[in-house]
Amino acid sequence: MNYSRDKSQPIFDRALNVLVKGVSSNFRFLGEKETPVIAKGKGAHIWDADGNKFIDYRLGWGPIILGHANERVNNEVAKNLENGTTFASTTELEVIVAEKMVKMIPGMEKLRFTNTGTEATMHALRTARGYTNKEKFIKFEGQYHGAHDYVLFSTASSPISAMGSRMSPIPVQVGSGIPNKIRDYVYCLPFNDFDAVEKCVKDHHGEIAALLVEPCLGNIAGIEPKEGFLAHLRSLCDKYNMVLIFDEVKTGFRLSNGGARETYGVIPDISTYAKSLGNGLPVAAFGGKGEVMDVIGGGSVTHAGTFGANGVSMAAANAVLDILTETPVLNELSKRGLKLKEGLDKVLTEANLAHQMCGHPNIQGFLLTEKKVEEVRDLAYSDDEMYETIMNNMYDRGVWAENDPREPWFLCASHSDEIIEETLNIFQDSVKAALQ
Ligand SMILES: Cc1ncc(COP(=O)(O)O)c(C=O)c1O
Repeated sequence: MNYSRDKSQPIFDRALNVLVKGVSSNFRFLGEKETPVIAKGKGAHIWDADGNKFIDYRLGWGPIILGHANERVNNEVAKNLENGTTFASTTELEVIVAEKMVKMIPGMEKLRFTNTGTEATMHALRTARGYTNKEKFIKFEGQYHGAHDYVLFSTASSPISAMGSRMSPIPVQVGSGIPNKIRDYVYCLPFNDFDAVEKCVKDHHGEIAALLVEPCLGNIAGIEPKEGFLAHLRSLCDKYNMVLIFDEVKTGFRLSNGGARETYGVIPDISTYAKSLGNGLPVAAFGGKGEVMDVIGGGSVTHAGTFGANGVSMAAANAVLDILTETPVLNELSKRGLKLKEGLDKVLTEANLAHQMCGHPNIQGFLLTEKKVEEVRDLAYSDDEMYETIMNNMYDRGVWAENDPREPWFLCASHSDEIIEETLNIFQDSVKAALQ
């Protein structure tokens, strides 16, 4: 790294004294002398504490859909702060936001608000269990659904070598502290494998409450579902009385206004939302078919949260949803995302680097491999060291996308044509430098 850390390092040294590893989420720690300290963000740019400026493609790992510090979102939040934020009671603003979501999301009938994606997937799973009176669930390898115990198996950070064979996959616990017995509640299967899911469902449907899937791999370069895969999951759930849950924490209000439901044309029973819904403020939700969601409450399935639908998160969501519906933000974003994707592809082709472009233009990635990439196990063949070198070169030149190919590039409304062009020029230089 070429940047001065004259101001950042003393702050991070203080952080190391009082915050575990100096961070508030494990994934943010990049080393005692390397972890950046961010001072501010505006639009598609962020600045570190030393004033170094970056084009941001991490976007807080997804939430920033309109650009950092969006004025209208900020104003709406500021305005609502005057009214107080937390009342342990329904507010009209909460109803307004829910009504907008029901209107925008195909098949959405009823929902509940939470504050994080983790809470949303946790409650969605519990609701599915309550509805079906069954306890186990299926998830897909490489998918991350938050930090609660039930889903911390075979995520993007799990070693592929520990996952066993494709015919007989082993759920890999992510770290210590998760009771061993929880493994008995989950089947982890390869994404995009029609036969593996069908076999598991046929063998075990009597005990499977839900099929939990992120419609595209938002934690593995944005890998998309094969044609018909999500519809296959839908029909298995219909046939065997299981709840289909889409984890739309990353895809919701990012792929399109109706999220993956709209983009891929498959309607789950429940889906979860978080990141883009608040453009960086903490708001999340889960919801779907009224009949399924109605098992919540009345002494049956528990959903609770002191800060659910607080005034700040509702104000942010209200502004985000208005902006997304008043102007074709996400369609325009897709066009520029495609320009970026085609540009990156061209540079890699001209450099003779074997690669696979992945993902939807609004959440995309690439892997340096000749092998077609359809699921996490395909990452075993990619040249991640070269990827890291190229991305470190990008960082040194003022563009910050993750240097781990698993984390996708996120786009926001502030990534203008000029910023995309600047990114592509820097990418070309970075690839050249990596090959020297
Ligand atoms: C697909 C998906 N689901 C759930 C979560 C958890 O969301 P949160 O970090 O808000 O708890 C994440 C976080 O990155 C995610 O990517």
